[in-house]
Amino acid sequence: MEENNTDFEEIEEDFIEEYDMEESRDLEIKKIDKRRIKKKDQSAIRLAVDSVFDERTVFLLRKLLDKQIIGDFVGIINAGKEANVYLAYDKEGNEIAIKIYKIDSNTSRWMRNYITGDPRFKKVGKNPSQIIFLWAKKEFKNLKQAYRAGLSVPQPIHVKNNVLIMEYIGDGPTPAPILKKVKSLENPEKLFDEVYQFIKVLYKAKLVHGDLSEFNILMLDQKPIIIDISQAVSIDHPKSDQYLIRDIKNVINFFSKFGIETPTVKEAFYDIIKN
Ligand SMILES: Nc1ncnc2c1ncn2[C@@H]1O[C@H](COP(=O)(O)OP(=O)(O)OP(=O)(O)O)[C@@H](O)[C@H]1O
Ligand SMILES: [Mg+2]
Repeated sequence: MEENNTDFEEIEEDFIEEYDMEESRDLEIKKIDKRRIKKKDQSAIRLAVDSVFDERTVFLLRKLLDKQIIGDFVGIINAGKEANVYLAYDKEGNEIAIKIYKIDSNTSRWMRNYITGDPRFKKVGKNPSQIIFLWAKKEFKNLKQAYRAGLSVPQPIHVKNNVLIMEYIGDGPTPAPILKKVKSLENPEKLFDEVYQFIKVLYKAKLVHGDLSEFNILMLDQKPIIIDISQAVSIDHPKSDQYLIRDIKNVINFFSKFGIETPTVKEAFYDIIKN
């Protein structure tokens, strides 16, 4: 209950801060020396050009560059319907992945349905950007919860409004491929076991992924890293069993194609929810 309130208040604070930022924008820009503006603007503009981000997002990115939370953008990894994912560097030159959600009223409409019913997020506003900010925060929180449980997910680094920064999964500039695209799996049996254990441990950490499939598993050196955890729900969510069964079905369907022995969906479900 308290956590729900905090979430909401934090988002409201973000709004106020954002609003103030808009107000004091000209003033702030004047304060920064011209050479730095030019450098930062180039990165932000590069982003604005290859995507469809609103002015507020571009301004926020510029702020993250100024605060040196982001060092520089390298390029786009994936352009999706709801979000784009970029490869960037932090200030020490380490690779990071930046997921930027688009502020869009159609997206926020279905997101709203997903958040409603999650006991962690009691008050859900109507404003599209408010819902999308909450969504990004939800992904960050879910990542944290999973990461703390020792699960194989990208380490969460930072979240602000619609921008989520996390550990980059890849080999140098080449991002890790999704499981669906991996041509040769050395040991599908072992991999199935790892993904199955992921579902089990995540459930013990009180979460259900809700969109688990070969499309949301990255493969690095034959090891699975589970991503796209934004829609994950608390096991207390009224639809958590339904989502869990769907996740189990997806995983079993995918791995049974390799001719390996898998439990039935029912067996797996009862095994996962026990204790
Ligand atoms: N931490 C990361 N490191 C490397 N690549 C990543 C990372 N996170 C996401 N990606 C890449 O970006 C793609 C989209 O990420 P994600 O699945 O989280 O977003 P999405 O909104 O579901 O997009 P889509 O609808 O295209 O699946 C992934 O399939 C993967 O290729
Ligand atoms: Mg995805």
